[in-house]
Amino acid sequence: MIDIAVLASGTGTNLAALLARPEVRDRIRLVLSDRPGAGALDLARGAGVDAKVIRFSDHPDRSSFSIALADAIEEAGAKGVVLAGFMRILSPAFVARFPGRILNIHPSLLPAFPGARAVESALEAGVAVTGVTVHFVDEEVDHGPIVVQEEVPVLSGDDPSTLHARIKEVEHRVYPEIVSAFVSGRLRLEGERVIWG
Ligand code: GAR
Repeated sequence: MIDIAVLASGTGTNLAALLARPEVRDRIRLVLSDRPGAGALDLARGAGVDAKVIRFSDHPDRSSFSIALADAIEEAGAKGVVLAGFMRILSPAFVARFPGRILNIHPSLLPAFPGARAVESALEAGVAVTGVTVHFVDEEVDHGPIVVQEEVPVLSGDDPSTLHARIKEVEHRVYPEIVSAFVSGRLRLEGERVIWG
């Protein structure tokens, strides 16, 4: 069993989907956010999970911000990190503290449309299909060994909000399955290889 910290900057609908799975909820030691107003914080506290804010602006640079996050995660006793809409870039030193034990979910079919505007960028590019990627995190942004991808069609008349809502429906189904496998040890990374079972 792997205890985890969940990092979330936003409304926290993915966190809510994780909390709804008892075997995942029971492994969440801490929810961390860089934003004091993040809905994820209230969701965590409502579920009886410790929640903490670490502001980027309280630190001189990304490196010391990332160290503060990593220290809080280790102090909470978590060995794995699950990014659920965390919109800050983590330092290579952070990634090295949790080797092969950081998962991310991203609202596109990576390597297409990395970054904070994945849904808008897919619409601007005029693609017919976008989707969801769950991957292990390496030193690059929205990059690392892919665990699963699922397509989501772009419909005529979609705007960022309608498309993102359909993408999130997929995220909320897929991420709890993947994180459940990760915390139970049924999913792991060996070097660059994703291992199931
Ligand atoms: C999700 O769509 C997630 O894939 C995305 O942020 C959203 C968070 O929503 N993450 C990224 O864009 C990471 N680059 P939520 O706060 O409702 O879970």
